[in-house]
Amino acid sequence: MSSAITKKEARKEIERLSDLIDYYSHLYYQKNTTEMSDYEFDQLLDKLIRLEDSFPELKSPSSPTQRVGGVVTKEFETVVHKYRMLSLGNTYSREDLIEFDKRVAKGLEGQGYEYFCELKFDGVAISLTYEKGLLVRAVTRGDGIRGDDITTNAKTIRTLPLKINNKDFPEEFEVRGEVFLSKEAFRKLNEERADIGEETYVNARNTSSGTLKLQDSSEVSRRHLDCYLYSLLVPDSDVKTHEKSIEKLIDMCFNVSPTFRKCHTLAEIFDYIDEWETRRFELPVETDGVVIKVNSISQQEQLGYTAKNPRWAISYKYKAESAITKLKDITYQVGRTGAITPVAELVPVFLAGTTVKRASLHNANEIARLDLRIGDIVFIEKGGEIIPKVTGVDLSKRGNGVKQVTFITNCPECHTPLVRKEGEVVHYCPNVKGCSPQIQGRIEHFIQRKAMNIESLGPETIRGLLDKGIIRDAADLYALNFDDLNGLELTIQAGKDGMLKSRSLREKSAQNIIEAIEQSKSRPFENVLFAVGIRYVGATVSEKLVNYFKTIERIQDAGFDELIEAEDIGERIAHSIESFFKYPETLNFINKLKFAGLIFKKQDKISEIQSGVLNGKTFVVSGVFENFSRDEIQESVKSHGGKIISSVSAKLDYLLTGEKPGPSKLSKAGKLGIRMITENEFLEMIATHNQDV
Ligand code: IVH
Repeated sequence: MSSAITKKEARKEIERLSDLIDYYSHLYYQKNTTEMSDYEFDQLLDKLIRLEDSFPELKSPSSPTQRVGGVVTKEFETVVHKYRMLSLGNTYSREDLIEFDKRVAKGLEGQGYEYFCELKFDGVAISLTYEKGLLVRAVTRGDGIRGDDITTNAKTIRTLPLKINNKDFPEEFEVRGEVFLSKEAFRKLNEERADIGEETYVNARNTSSGTLKLQDSSEVSRRHLDCYLYSLLVPDSDVKTHEKSIEKLIDMCFNVSPTFRKCHTLAEIFDYIDEWETRRFELPVETDGVVIKVNSISQQEQLGYTAKNPRWAISYKYKAESAITKLKDITYQVGRTGAITPVAELVPVFLAGTTVKRASLHNANEIARLDLRIGDIVFIEKGGEIIPKVTGVDLSKRGNGVKQVTFITNCPECHTPLVRKEGEVVHYCPNVKGCSPQIQGRIEHFIQRKAMNIESLGPETIRGLLDKGIIRDAADLYALNFDDLNGLELTIQAGKDGMLKSRSLREKSAQNIIEAIEQSKSRPFENVLFAVGIRYVGATVSEKLVNYFKTIERIQDAGFDELIEAEDIGERIAHSIESFFKYPETLNFINKLKFAGLIFKKQDKISEIQSGVLNGKTFVVSGVFENFSRDEIQESVKSHGGKIISSVSAKLDYLLTGEKPGPSKLSKAGKLGIRMITENEFLEMIATHNQDV
């Protein structure tokens, strides 16, 4: 490709592709519409990546390829803000808003004025500097005077323009806004973490803040941060109102939440507040209040600032859905990885539509942070759709009868002494083999839809089978017969009072379970590998391992060094896989599953020799393809005489790239001048042959 076009042509093409990608990204991420398929979009991005790799000197810091990350920042530089980043005065009461309005009226000495209302997004404040239309710096709020330069991480935010494409923009300006994880992005991130036995994050705001400070920008990119902008700072600007500056932000393609409203009276402001008090739950992002700003910029200047806050704006916070109740006790749950989670047992209280009896306390540090005692009166809150949490103790109500909490030292189920690894906050029960909730948890993981898909087998049935000693691990499911299940005594929690009741498994259910177990034997290797429950090996990682190593034996025999060779397999995952296979119990478990007939090998779909058109040529395959799974495209290379190798080196002939190819492979191939081809180009290569015969 590099030899085919001149540098001048490449520059033009890079510009054309960047503009197109910016245009389609804006449509897709901000207007929620699209004019092309994901595949076509990825092809454009792919073409741009390849061109930039061939002509690295033409790669611009505002290129849309920056969104995929790949840069590691060891330490974030401190930057002094050009204008201080102030915060807003908060209030929870309408009386305060009436007072605020009185102060504004007084400060403006009889002039007319209007307000601009916006929602207050619960994220992390960010300041962005643009010079000559290019994003040059993104800085966190920090202490308001200086913050951290997190430009590379901010560039992964899909909705943030890296380059202003609209002609009419000031030479230099600053934009401020709020970076956040949408409710959906946060849910997905936690789901992925739960799948690999990692502790889930407690709230989206702190996670957004932590994400912005991650050293690896590829990980930031994967988490899909987003951002709303709400302020434009231009020195000596002709923009006279906040409303106009918002319009300007929209014109420059910044992501502005469409929820703002101009208001003329307090009554209109109260209507706005009332309307969004309920509607905010429909929004994709968490919102904790309303910001009310004086619209005219000159009036803002006239009103000025106190030491910390502007006098021309105030935020009205919605009361969190909270309640007060009594902490009766703390109990402890054991997860499938042996992690111990303390749980607050509460006097039942009604909160945001449901009765809350329990709330997670996460770990021992959280109990210490809250300084909890049994018998305390506690505040509980429900944030969005997340499970309730204890947010604090009402110390004024603490009586003499409260009892100090001592975190358990032994497993509540099997009484094995707990361990806490250095640097970790979580306590673990190390009795992997014999601790009943861990065994049950592993079986529940094994049968889930994304794994072996035997969900007709509910938790109660698993409990029943374990209690009777019919099964000891997930592999024993394959030895079950109809009679083991039919009529099996089950203990279930029933009714509002959660009383334990007993019933027996019906014939039909037993039949369904047996069928589902039988069907699960044809689940592909990637699902089986996920099901066996190696820590940190979620569904995506399983797929990568299967595509790279092909068989369980190769994964098992691969040492640490070979494991980290595979795409997206980092040190932590490699260590976890290595230690998983060290246990004789693991090998025994895998052998039982093999004996039951489960698939431990990537199945070849296209295996017969089709041609010799790629004879002697070597290929590395990276990314996701439209017409093939990764394995299929590799098989197709082989069936035409090509050879698949695992890493990019000077000897490589082709890097065959799909959607989201590995950035390190791309840059290495670019440096070595390796020819990169797309799926379509590959199809052309093998199609030429097909016409020949
Ligand atoms: S305006 C002088 N508008 O709330 C400060 N802030 O305590 C002007 N925030 O640091 C800020 N949504 O992080 C403004 N629509 C909005 C906002 C908003 C969220 C955050 C921001 C700021 C904090 C104020």
